[in-house]
Amino acid sequence: MIDETVIQTRLKRAREALNDTGADAIVCFPSSNMYYLSGFDDEPMERHLFLFVTPETALFVAPEMYDAQIKDESPITDVRTWGDIEDPTALLETVGDELGLEGGHLLVDDRMWALFTQDLQATFPEASFGIASKVLENLRVRKDEAELDRLREAARLSDTVSKEIRALGAGAIGMTERELAAEIGDRLASAGGEGVSFETVVGSGPNGARPHHRHGERTIESGDPVVLDFGTWFEGYPGDQTRTVVFDGEPSAKLREVHEAVLEAHNAGVEAVEPGVEAREIDRAARTVLEDRGYGDAFIHRTGHGVGLDVHEPPYITSENGRKLEPGMVCSVEPGVYLEGEFGVRIEDLVVVTEDGYERLNDSPRTWRPLDE
Ligand code: GLY
Ligand code: MN
Ligand code: MN
Repeated sequence: MIDETVIQTRLKRAREALNDTGADAIVCFPSSNMYYLSGFDDEPMERHLFLFVTPETALFVAPEMYDAQIKDESPITDVRTWGDIEDPTALLETVGDELGLEGGHLLVDDRMWALFTQDLQATFPEASFGIASKVLENLRVRKDEAELDRLREAARLSDTVSKEIRALGAGAIGMTERELAAEIGDRLASAGGEGVSFETVVGSGPNGARPHHRHGERTIESGDPVVLDFGTWFEGYPGDQTRTVVFDGEPSAKLREVHEAVLEAHNAGVEAVEPGVEAREIDRAARTVLEDRGYGDAFIHRTGHGVGLDVHEPPYITSENGRKLEPGMVCSVEPGVYLEGEFGVRIEDLVVVTEDGYERLNDSPRTWRPLDE
C-alpha cells in the first residue's frame, strides 16, 4: 500500500497543477493514474469506476461491491456507490452537480475507454474535455526515492534471472521460444517477482529481427542469436531489460560485428544521460554510432522510453523529443539492429537520471557469450 502522506502530497500537487491549467477536474479510470493518485487500482472493466479529483476534493464513483476494498486500499474514503441494477449515470449527474462540473473543463484519463468518455460527454454536454496526462505527466515523470527503490529491486530481480538464463548455455539448445519464455517467467516468480512486466520476448534467429516478436514454437539452435527482453513487477514497478545471447556454438562474424556495434551504441546512449540534456540527444548519441557503422537503416525504433508505473511512459527517447532530462527521471536505453530474414540484436538497460549524471539499474552481462560474468 502506498503511504498516505505520499498520496496526500500527490493530490496536493495535482490540485495545484489543475489550478495552474484552469481545468476543473481530473477523472481517472482504473489505470496507473488512478493508482498514482489514490493507491487503488483495478483492471479496467465495463462497470463505471472513476476517481474525481478537483481543486477542492477527491472522491470515487464506484460499483457498490468495491466500497470496502477502496476504503481499505486508499486514503480517499469518499466513495459514492451505485448498485449493479442501478443506472450509474444518475449518480454521475448528482456528483457532477455537487462538484460543479457542468460547463467545466474535465481532464479524462488517457486510458479511459471511449465507452466511458462518451458517457461523460453525454452526462455533461456543456463541459469541455482534455486528457489527464496534461497535468499528471509532469507529476509522474520524476520518481521519488521509494519509487526508485522499487524500480531498483525490479531491475535486480530481472538481472538475477538474466544471469541464470544465460548460464543455461547449451542447455537452452532444443528448447522452443515458448518453453524458454515459460522458464523465464517461472524463475522471475521464484526470485520474488510479481508477474511479468510484459509478454516475454524470446526472439531466436530470424525472429529476433522483429523487435516485438514475443515467443513462438521455433526451436533454438546452436549458433542462433536470441533476443531476450523481459522484466517483472515489484510493488507496482516493472523491470525491462534486453540481452542478445548465443547460447551455444559459434556465431557468425556478422553477428559479432553487429553485437559490438549495438553495445557501443547502447553505452553511448547511457553515457549521454545527465540532467539538462534533451531526450533527443540520448537518441542521437546511440543512433550516430549505428549510422557510422552502416546500420542506421536497421535501427527501426526510438532509443528508449520512460519507465514507472507503466512500462512505457514519458519521457520518450526519440529523435524529436526536446524535453530536458531531470533528476529522478527513469528511462530505457535500448538501441537495436534488425536484419529481416537474418537476426536481430538489442541491448537494453534502465537508467536513472541523477543530480550529476546517471545510475544504471541493470548490471547483468551484456555480451553475446552465455557464460561470461
Ligand atoms: N519490451 C518492450 C520494450 O523494451 O520497450
Ligand atoms: Mn524491453
Ligand atoms: Mn523497453
